[in-house]
Amino acid sequence: MSDYTWIDHTYDVVVVGAGGAGLRAALGAAQSGLKTACISKVFPTRSHTVAAQGGISASLGNMGEDDWRWHMYDTVKGSDWLGDQDAIEYLCRNAPAAVYELEHWGVPFSRTEDGKIYQRAFGGMTRNYGEGSVQRTCAAADRTGHAILHTLYGQCVKEETEFFIEYFALDLIMDEDGVCRGITAWKLDDGTLHRFRAKSVILATGGYGRAYFSCTSAHTCTGDGNAMVLRAGLPLQDMEFVQFHPTGIYGAGVLITEGVRGEGGYLTNSEGERFMERYAPSAKDLASRDVVSRSMTIEIREGRGVGPKKDHIYLHLDHLDPEIIHKRLPGISESARVFSGVDVTRDPIPVLPTVHYNMGGIPTNYHGEVLTLNGKGEEITVPGLMAVGEAACVSVHGANRLGSNSLIDLVVFGRAAGLRVGETVNAAASQPDLPKGAGDNSLARLDKYRNAKGKTPTAKLRDQMQAAMQENCAVFRTGEVMNEGVERIKQVYAGLPDIAVSDRSLIWNTDLMETLELDNLVAQAAVTVNGAVAREESRGAHAREDFPDRDDKDWMKHTLAWIDETGNVRLDYRGVHNFTMSNDIAYIEPKARVY
Ligand code: FUM
Repeated sequence: MSDYTWIDHTYDVVVVGAGGAGLRAALGAAQSGLKTACISKVFPTRSHTVAAQGGISASLGNMGEDDWRWHMYDTVKGSDWLGDQDAIEYLCRNAPAAVYELEHWGVPFSRTEDGKIYQRAFGGMTRNYGEGSVQRTCAAADRTGHAILHTLYGQCVKEETEFFIEYFALDLIMDEDGVCRGITAWKLDDGTLHRFRAKSVILATGGYGRAYFSCTSAHTCTGDGNAMVLRAGLPLQDMEFVQFHPTGIYGAGVLITEGVRGEGGYLTNSEGERFMERYAPSAKDLASRDVVSRSMTIEIREGRGVGPKKDHIYLHLDHLDPEIIHKRLPGISESARVFSGVDVTRDPIPVLPTVHYNMGGIPTNYHGEVLTLNGKGEEITVPGLMAVGEAACVSVHGANRLGSNSLIDLVVFGRAAGLRVGETVNAAASQPDLPKGAGDNSLARLDKYRNAKGKTPTAKLRDQMQAAMQENCAVFRTGEVMNEGVERIKQVYAGLPDIAVSDRSLIWNTDLMETLELDNLVAQAAVTVNGAVAREESRGAHAREDFPDRDDKDWMKHTLAWIDETGNVRLDYRGVHNFTMSNDIAYIEPKARVY
């Protein structure tokens, strides 16, 4: 490993990832007067937040009465009581202020006739604790993520956050006391290697949708931060909860926003029936995503799918006023035309439930501080390490996230993390030197794959992993099918030593980068499917046909999963926070979840 040289950097705060959560955290840190770096493997405004369409939830009440407590109730119910209620309270209470902050920074929200932020209906969002649909999702047409990401990037530049663009983060630097001291990274365009020393590292690396064959996630969504956490010997939480968005374009996986149904769109089967009326008599097409995805899957299984193979469903908006479509849904009109050849003003869009979001991730409290368990099984924080956004599991989404609760999660908890480092990191204090041998583990891993001369192309092994996850850890699950998934993922692990990387260069070596990403993904696939097999109940997105009921007595708890180098997974559990943050709001007791 003699030809490697580190380039060292020192910051107060290093944020890894430049999506909505990373940029909001970096902005907060910089505003607190901390020397802040933001590292991203893509140009910030290409981060996956840019693809978020339908909107950001907050009880502004612009389209009728609303209340943050109703939002909290909906989110707890949506989470199927796996969400931590202190964190959910924090999210919903702070949501309106976070949206107004975005507005003041320049997010070009769509407007009502009287100039207020336009809000649309989204699944599971109700008035007065479940009485009927409420318009709570603030939208910038159907390009809300794009608008937010560009605005936040501009604000970060203004606050002089230093960006390290097209740097691929490799590992956490942990000292022998379990304190995070920084990260290592590979600069993709010139092959240099970097160590970033920091008083606080904030992981904002997004989800790992690409563990699956068909997902709405960008190709960059490989959960690099999650894998860094696992390699550091820390756990990930609730990874078995993977959200399938009801309306990915059939065959392409491209997202068609839930905002379509919020604007009056609906689903039909091969008999032309609006079947959601049977499954969710009250909310119908605006039931929560897990419910709609399961209903669509049942329709297809029972032979009522559409198309020559009867293997998908139709989403109609052809009955809506073309003016409304043009004004509110221009982006998906284009996507439908490009990816399915459909003119949405005349024909329905062929859609299928598609992997969209990871409820699980790096366990944190509502300040963004990373949690683990001590030897006595008690929750403790990991000094120097924080996580936000889809990479994190706060946990506000529990077993199922409500649509538009992701963008608000990014900005509320990105802001919370920025505030926390403002309180806990002292810009004037000196930092200890990096631990001896800092980064050696990254070099060893890089070296291993850079010199990998086996026979299996990375893409082939990735196909095997993605097929296993798609077939063995999907919308409906059984122990038998998932156990087969466990074995298939073990085989992928066993295939890693035989991988072939075509090029030794460190300059724009996309083959090497994809191999490191695969290595990251397979660890997450393993903890996902192992956590899923172990959880013998149905809750939110985890729907087991062999254990069809929710079991609050034995399973109202978060899964924590560790993995070793050979792919062996260890599971433990921690209790759901069944308490709120403040005294003026009561814990919401579990009950049956119907829409
Ligand atoms: O359907 C959508 O627009 C997606 C929103 C979300 O996942 O929050």
